[in-house]
Amino acid sequence: MPTEKDMKAILDKLQSIPTMPAILSEALNTMDNPKSSVNKLAEILSKDISLTTQILKLVNSAYYGFPSQITTIKRAMALMGFNAIRSLILSVVVKPMMVTHSGKTLWEHSIRCAVACQMMSKSLGFGDPDEAFIIGLLHDIGKIVLEIANKDASKEVNRLTLLGADSLQAEKMFFGYTHTEIGRELSIKWKLPMIIGTAIYYHHNPLASQSKMHSCLVYVGDRITREPLKYPVLDPDIVDSFDFEVPDPMDLREKVFEASSHIISALS
Ligand SMILES: [Fe+2]
Ligand SMILES: [Fe+2]
Repeated sequence: MPTEKDMKAILDKLQSIPTMPAILSEALNTMDNPKSSVNKLAEILSKDISLTTQILKLVNSAYYGFPSQITTIKRAMALMGFNAIRSLILSVVVKPMMVTHSGKTLWEHSIRCAVACQMMSKSLGFGDPDEAFIIGLLHDIGKIVLEIANKDASKEVNRLTLLGADSLQAEKMFFGYTHTEIGRELSIKWKLPMIIGTAIYYHHNPLASQSKMHSCLVYVGDRITREPLKYPVLDPDIVDSFDFEVPDPMDLREKVFEASSHIISALS
């Protein structure tokens, strides 16, 4: 089994691993002092016209349903809060990384999983819905590393998975590590909060997680937004041990697809 050191060495060796833009590290890691973070973030964002434009497009999309047009980041921050803007910045920034390396399918699946996690976090009253969104968005980020490491092997893993193979086993076979392991390592390299790395690591095996509830949300978000769906949509052996119920996964899937279509089209 590869150690964390091995994982780090793998990432260090790959030249084209995307680096975390400074603005995003700033946004994700300056929560200790929200007041200065908001000002600082507003200041940095005001210099990046393209990022600002895309964030405002998202803010004004039907997903958020504000009655009137929001034209400045400051106003958006006042209405939605720092955490929400943080998750929007992340959505904008990771899109080209995902699309370039793994194609649109992974990007759309990740947005849908993010929306599912956010919706569940809200309806269950668990955690911060914006943090849940970020965790869902990044759950499969390790897949871009597999693509960069070996595109053909990655294609083969996808082909075998579509035929019914276990994706983690297939990855182990071709790469010696999985997208969950390398995804957590990437989140460490990007200096993201530990809870994000933990949820990434355990999203296929949520009951083993030290942060069980977050990992369970991502497990559900991931499974209900797969295309094609994997059956059973939620593994009864796993969900029976959850601290919450998912009464109708297919209904949740429909709601998530509808809600996330607004984000996907705003960023297309
Ligand atoms: Fe996954
Ligand atoms: Fe996934």
